[in-house]
Amino acid sequence: MSNQNLVIGASGTVGSALVQNLRARGQTVRLATSRAPTQPDQVQLDVLQRQGLAAAFQGVQRAFLMAPPGYVPQDHLLVPLIEQARAAGVQKVVLMSAMGADAAPDTPLRKAELALEASGLAWNTIRPNWFMQNFHTFWVQGIREQGRIFLPIGSARGSFIDARDIADVAAELLLGDAHGDQAFDLTGAEALNHDEVAAILSRETGRDIRHQEIPPEAMLQGLLGAGLPAPYAEFLVMILGYFAAGYAERRTDAVQRITGRAPRSFAAYAREFRAQWVV
Ligand SMILES: NC(=O)c1ccc[n+]([C@@H]2O[C@H](COP(=O)([O-])OP(=O)(O)OC[C@H]3O[C@@H](n4cnc5c(N)ncnc54)[C@H](OP(=O)(O)O)[C@@H]3O)[C@@H](O)[C@H]2O)c1
Repeated sequence: MSNQNLVIGASGTVGSALVQNLRARGQTVRLATSRAPTQPDQVQLDVLQRQGLAAAFQGVQRAFLMAPPGYVPQDHLLVPLIEQARAAGVQKVVLMSAMGADAAPDTPLRKAELALEASGLAWNTIRPNWFMQNFHTFWVQGIREQGRIFLPIGSARGSFIDARDIADVAAELLLGDAHGDQAFDLTGAEALNHDEVAAILSRETGRDIRHQEIPPEAMLQGLLGAGLPAPYAEFLVMILGYFAAGYAERRTDAVQRITGRAPRSFAAYAREFRAQWVV
């Protein structure tokens, strides 16, 4: 029997940690990339162009599915992957969605979740909260250059999750069958507002880092100026509004329950990645 694991987004924040986790357990991993492969374990698959799907899923037993950021109707990207997984006889699919995606039946991610649930495949859906890693990816420039986290987010708290905890949960769900056909909201153990985040980053870096509130319109202009497509920039400002309204505060025990250990703390993340914010 085939024992192949396919990881979509294998070079990404979550995907790269998942590949590492699976390899550490002796698993064979096929790494999907939209670029020309440079290693024998990579396979070219472009979810936007819908190219390479059949070959990527051939002989796959377990698959991790996600949609790359930047494109709002994620169901258009994910549903063909789900259909291909079924056609290829994949035995288990783990789909990465996002916390809050199930708030309404017609959000793009919820449509993809429902397609997976109805597919007949063995499945798990994981809905992570905002990643800790956003502070050294999305929001890094303002922190490095001006010591400011510029966000229209008020004093609401978020139970940020370390992307490596998401990957560890995904690995457990892919390889085990203790939690079949369920969805999990994934969060860190503590909810912090952006003043508290800034205080931790200041402590770890020795710099004076602060949260600076900006209007949503200024955020939108900043994202457009950084080259994001307008629909995606508008989507990000909209979901930052949900954060500001308190929807990101909730904590769950899913990481602990599924991996058997507590989620990584924000302080530990900040200590490990401190070089990212030191100029
Ligand atoms: N950031 C957050 O706070 C947060 C919270 C909840 C949910 N999420 C969800 O997490 C996902 C992003 O995960 P991430 O941060 O781990 O990703 P990421 O680091 O942004 O990486 C994106 C990945 O997608 C691949 N990719 C890009 N274009 C592609 C295409 N056309 N076809 C196939 N693959 C393509 C890239 O690899 P190549 O360049 O090699 O193709 C890369 O591995 C999004 O779906 C988002 O909704 C994020």
